[in-house]
Amino acid sequence: MCGIFAYAGDENAVPFLIEGLRAVEYRGYDSAGIAVVDEHGDIRTVKRGDHKASLENLAQTVIGGELSGNVGIGHTRWATHGEVNQKNSHPHTSHNSSVAIAHNGIIENFLQLKDELIESGIVFLSDTDSEVLAHLVGIAVESGASLRESVVRAAARIKGNTAVVAVSVNEPEKVVGLRVGNAGGIVVGSNAHSSVMASDTIALLPHTRQVVYLEPGEVVEIEAGAVRLFDLDGNAIYRQPVEIGRNFEAAKKGNYAHFMSKEIAEQPDAIQSAMRGRANFATGALSLPEVELTQHQIKSIDRVVLTGMGTSLHAGMFGASVIESLARIPSVAENSSELRYRDPVLGPKTLVVAVTQSGETADTLAAMEFARQAGSPLAVVLEIDGSQATRVADFTLPVRAGQEIGVASTKTLIASMTTLLQLAVFLARARGAISENRVAEIVGMLAGLPSYVSAALDLDSEVSSLAGRLSEFADLLFLGRGAQLPVALEGALKMKELAYIHAEGYPAGEMKHGVNALLGPDMATVVCAPTNNLYEKMLSNISEVKARGGEVAVIATVGDESAQRVADHVIYVPECPELLQPFVTVVPLQILAYRTALVLGRDPDKPRNLAKTVTVE
Ligand code: M6R
Repeated sequence: MCGIFAYAGDENAVPFLIEGLRAVEYRGYDSAGIAVVDEHGDIRTVKRGDHKASLENLAQTVIGGELSGNVGIGHTRWATHGEVNQKNSHPHTSHNSSVAIAHNGIIENFLQLKDELIESGIVFLSDTDSEVLAHLVGIAVESGASLRESVVRAAARIKGNTAVVAVSVNEPEKVVGLRVGNAGGIVVGSNAHSSVMASDTIALLPHTRQVVYLEPGEVVEIEAGAVRLFDLDGNAIYRQPVEIGRNFEAAKKGNYAHFMSKEIAEQPDAIQSAMRGRANFATGALSLPEVELTQHQIKSIDRVVLTGMGTSLHAGMFGASVIESLARIPSVAENSSELRYRDPVLGPKTLVVAVTQSGETADTLAAMEFARQAGSPLAVVLEIDGSQATRVADFTLPVRAGQEIGVASTKTLIASMTTLLQLAVFLARARGAISENRVAEIVGMLAGLPSYVSAALDLDSEVSSLAGRLSEFADLLFLGRGAQLPVALEGALKMKELAYIHAEGYPAGEMKHGVNALLGPDMATVVCAPTNNLYEKMLSNISEVKARGGEVAVIATVGDESAQRVADHVIYVPECPELLQPFVTVVPLQILAYRTALVLGRDPDKPRNLAKTVTVE
């Protein structure tokens, strides 16, 4: 979490810092700040801690103002230690302002280090853990060490994963960046006039398309037109820059009111993109060239464990259900923060598939690391090319939805599900669990998927009316069964995340085992009940909720008249093959959360207390 951007070049750093922070603001928007080395060689910081307005307020203060300098660092914060306010905003400076740092990560031993520094006479100005780093670097610089050596020495004192950038008055032409562990990456690039580094490649695109990713345990110095990479012992490292394949246009809202509405609308394209070069609609064949498993390995897999967090876990649940049903391999999806700590039995016969949009989620990376050490073949289903997860996994299945900026995952969910369904078909065929004809039949279904999802997008006005009604409730229940369970869980997650309404996702069959006690007029229930083999059971659940005075909205298949007879509200989704139903039922739930958020005056792109990329536990 937290976004970092740094610039060293021939021009005034200030506008570049603001532009860079805008690109990484999705990583945290509690506060924003910059530190610039001015023409006198002094470090000057400007910070704002105005919650979601921080970056805009900062921009209004510094753009066109008198602050200028050729070197600077900037930060957008997702608060971990210390309230959201100006004093806790980064960058933090050392006691005599000879050093400024911006930090991403958690310093686990900060209390101990803080006590030690206070005892030596240092006065702390913030409640953050990060300020410890500023003082440690400052002390090393004052002892005569170079900025690079000082950052390395400071990092050696701290526990926890960290990414940090620093400037010093002693070396005013330079920014140093360091990465320890998996707390978000640092990516570096340069052109003839400037060098830049950031938490995400998207922020580098206005400057260069050739970038270098820092590995954990590496440190970098940048100055105008020069990038120097080292290990922590000071040995120079040469790494060939790689070309960024991403597009800056994706990071713009265009004519949409929010990134989220744009990304919801882009879902048919995201599906097409996830199928490109894989599903061949002319021949009915399906290939997954990225899968680096031998035929022997595929045949010997006796279990698949899918893992991820939040929405990506829901994609994993969908993946587990289709892999098990098509490839006939026992498959489960497990929350990475649980998997990593419970000492699971993994090994060469368990295929582990991580699902992560960012490729930086701390828990998912830790679970992947565990799987790697256990000797499991390890795949990652991923959006952000070049992220840490690609380096941990044996192979990557890119979902290719295009950059997702809205904190709420939408198109990356759909594209991950598309990719996982194709993985299921691929494994099923490779193991002989399904015939060529069945593959062709499923590929034929996939050809229609973008248009089913397009049709679901047309439900905006019906869903908006329902949003108006549901916004009046403080508690909501989302029910699903089978392949609709992850959809129900996702509907509830989106509602909590965006509308701040308490919402629970449940297997419908679980109702009688406790949840029914909550039913009554104060809680509305959203039921995912497209026409399928579990439909009759869902109808019974709806009747049970109604019998206890609850209001019910149903996501049903077009033409289903029974739904209208039993429920208060019905959203009709297009008819499609049962295998694809989760794709069409999840779309109205995304729109529902978005519209409910708007009714309640929430900002769907910047939900409170959240960040797009969760690089700490
Ligand atoms: O980057 P990841 O997919 O690993 O992120 C995991 C979750 O933080 C993420 O899916 C989160 O739940 C969604 N953004 C919520 O909409």
